[in-house]
Amino acid sequence: MRAVDLIQKKRDGLELTTDEIQWLIESYASGKVPDYQMAAWAMAVYFQGMSTRETKDLTMAMVATGDQIDLSAIQGIKTDKHSTGGVGDKVTLILAPLVASFGVPVAKMSGRGLGHTGGTLDKLEAIKGYQIEQAQDAFIKQVQAIGLSVIGQSNQLVPADKLLYALRDVTATVDIIPLIASSVMSKKIAAGADAILLDVTVGQGAFMKTIEEAEELAQTMVDLGKAVGRQTVAVITDMSQPVGQAIGNRLEVLEAIAIMKGQAREDVTQFICELAQIMLGLAGKEEDLKTIHEHLIKGKALAKFEAMVEAQGGDLSDLHRPSSAEFVTEITAEEAGFIEELPALAFGLFAMKFGAGRSVKTDSLDYESGIVFVKKVGDRVNKGEIIAKIYSNQKLNDNLLTNFKKNVKIGTTKNQPKDIIKIIS
Ligand code: URA
Repeated sequence: MRAVDLIQKKRDGLELTTDEIQWLIESYASGKVPDYQMAAWAMAVYFQGMSTRETKDLTMAMVATGDQIDLSAIQGIKTDKHSTGGVGDKVTLILAPLVASFGVPVAKMSGRGLGHTGGTLDKLEAIKGYQIEQAQDAFIKQVQAIGLSVIGQSNQLVPADKLLYALRDVTATVDIIPLIASSVMSKKIAAGADAILLDVTVGQGAFMKTIEEAEELAQTMVDLGKAVGRQTVAVITDMSQPVGQAIGNRLEVLEAIAIMKGQAREDVTQFICELAQIMLGLAGKEEDLKTIHEHLIKGKALAKFEAMVEAQGGDLSDLHRPSSAEFVTEITAEEAGFIEELPALAFGLFAMKFGAGRSVKTDSLDYESGIVFVKKVGDRVNKGEIIAKIYSNQKLNDNLLTNFKKNVKIGTTKNQPKDIIKIIS
């Protein structure tokens, strides 16, 4: 086979066979097909799409390029979750221990954040000593012992996706459903869990800008999971404003702890409980929301989280420490009204400027910086009241502050965004 023929076939809108897809992915992973041909093929897919069968073949061909984790030594239905990316998305930090605290094992491999979206690994690394690298047998032993582990993806997990995702990132071919679905699901399938909860974010802070697109991505991923025997459910969640109150690594860890102590806003607490109910349901455990809520606020998830931090070398005294950012700048309302909009993308990019996120992979992070929103969309504010606090290790100039304020829309409409927009199963 020749890559050029497969590029041409896709360019002309034809379907590739299973063998052709396998050959292309294998040859790319082994270095026989160069980046420039793979980039041309990805662009052809961008314009011509892929059939359901092609998307499944691509997913399984990518899985086959690396290790597949065998979690069978862990008793029970092993669960995993994945988010397609968000701003202030600390959900895993709470959801994983909450589900584990009900006796359902959570074995999760997470990624880092890039651009305006934060990654769970970066948040965990804001805790002094936390080790995100763990050998496979230690990972399994930890889940057997405490029911929970969140680690970084090994280099051997879907190496084809590592190469292809980096290539797509620099060739404007990320935001196409069959490539996103195969990228996410190849990693979830290779990571070995029996049941997978997919959080497909929608809004201007997410890859999917409309509910229709999010639904299509969600359904494609759910079908891929089910086709290989994994219990899979997707939730479409709102990413028009940041999740919860904090953006930034340490600030998000602190918010996660507050949620696990029952000291956080009711909306984000309720959102996590609803996700936990779905994830527990996937593992065959039906629990009502009241029970889950009580479990959470009584500290059961926090105890699990602390057990995980300790097992992975994290310093528990550092865990609860406030942010050490040098400057805390308060943003106050210039008029009274309701917060109508807090655009997630704009604030994600803003926080990134102070080191809360990376614009390129090699950027280093300032774990202590970020934003805490005292008010969220739908809240009432009086003139002069604090809307947000910016934590930074550099002094903010007036331009930046004006820019920040411009993005906070205050008006007369009380918008009430819904966290979970739709469930796809
Ligand atoms: N996240 C992934 O892992 N892959 C994509 O293609 C997009 C988001």
